[in-house]
Amino acid sequence: FRTLDDLDASGKRVLLRADLNVPMKDGRITDRTRIERLCPTIRELAEKGARVIICSHFDRPKGKRVPEMSLKPMAEALSSALDRPVGFADDCIGPLVEAAAAALKDGEVLLLENTRYHAGEEKNDPALAQGLAKLADVFVNDAFSAAHRAHASTEGVAHLIPAYAGRLMQAELEALDAALGSPKRPVVAIVGGAKVSTKLDLLGNLSKKVDVLVIGGAMANTFLAAQGHKLGKSLQEAEMHDTARQILADAKGNGCEILLPVDLVVATAFAENAPHRTVGIDSVPADMMALDVGPETVEAIAARLRQAATLVWNGPLGAFELPPFDAATVEVAATVASLGQSAGLVSIGGGGDTVAALKHAGVAERMTYVSAAGGAFLEWLEGKTLPGVAALEVKD
Ligand code: 3PG
Repeated sequence: FRTLDDLDASGKRVLLRADLNVPMKDGRITDRTRIERLCPTIRELAEKGARVIICSHFDRPKGKRVPEMSLKPMAEALSSALDRPVGFADDCIGPLVEAAAAALKDGEVLLLENTRYHAGEEKNDPALAQGLAKLADVFVNDAFSAAHRAHASTEGVAHLIPAYAGRLMQAELEALDAALGSPKRPVVAIVGGAKVSTKLDLLGNLSKKVDVLVIGGAMANTFLAAQGHKLGKSLQEAEMHDTARQILADAKGNGCEILLPVDLVVATAFAENAPHRTVGIDSVPADMMALDVGPETVEAIAARLRQAATLVWNGPLGAFELPPFDAATVEVAATVASLGQSAGLVSIGGGGDTVAALKHAGVAERMTYVSAAGGAFLEWLEGKTLPGVAALEVKD
């Protein structure tokens, strides 16, 4: 794919697909990571003299103009992050938007209204893609986190005008390639989270690509129970036992070592500071539940990490939002960060709760790369082709 290095941006009208789908509470942005990570691309384009027209979806208005889902507040947030004015257009296509885009001067920035106000966005309607393409000379996609959607502004428009990857898209793709495309070996993957059923494809794909697959979180309970261990009141999916056994057998066939917990921190209730103790996997009391993996498991993971060259991390090892059941996640994260410094361990994390867990552990800044994507990161780990990325591929 082409990057900004291949684009002579001066004087060009650039349609920039961003992902401004940021977490909001009571009209306030609660996490600015996506905005901050977008700034280098906008700044670079503006400084090179491009006329930058930004489009994005926000939330799921399903083709209606839902006022709470307007991108208008984001113009101000972008403007203060960039320290330059950002205009706003009340729609993302149509004559008024075309006039606003045409009136831009070199280096100016305009944000368009939520693309999902049009039903054609999610249907990848060519009419919407054409309406967007009309606004610009070239398309730059910086929304890796929306690239798993084949929508008009992520996929359709990329076929209509020359398409490039922005700096954030480029960084995400390079990090994922370092993790699974052509990684330094051995590769360890840590997969946690609640359910095996939501991560079947991910576990299947990883077990073909990595050398060691560490399974933690409540999903580990399902594997342990499938092996016949009694886990008391622990959360687990009884209907997934056959599948779990199959995953273990397939991994073995692929030469992938699966590391399951050898000890567990069990508690009387799913609550912060609930009475708890550490037990072996065959000693879980009938009235208690596993909320974290234990110290022996943490040491077993650390031993694998000391041998590893690359780590891919998706999902917490325990109920990290309820201390002290964050202990294993925090400790393993600290090991990852220090091995990054002392041994050059390449560490890439992302998807769902992972970013929150790594931030909670205080190591997000010390990992090689933490993805800003949720669903897109997971689909990539599942080995799926992301339509927004595929559309950037240059065909000779
Ligand atoms: C995300 O936040 O993961 C992306 O912006 C995609 O949002 P969606 O799940 O509403 O398509």
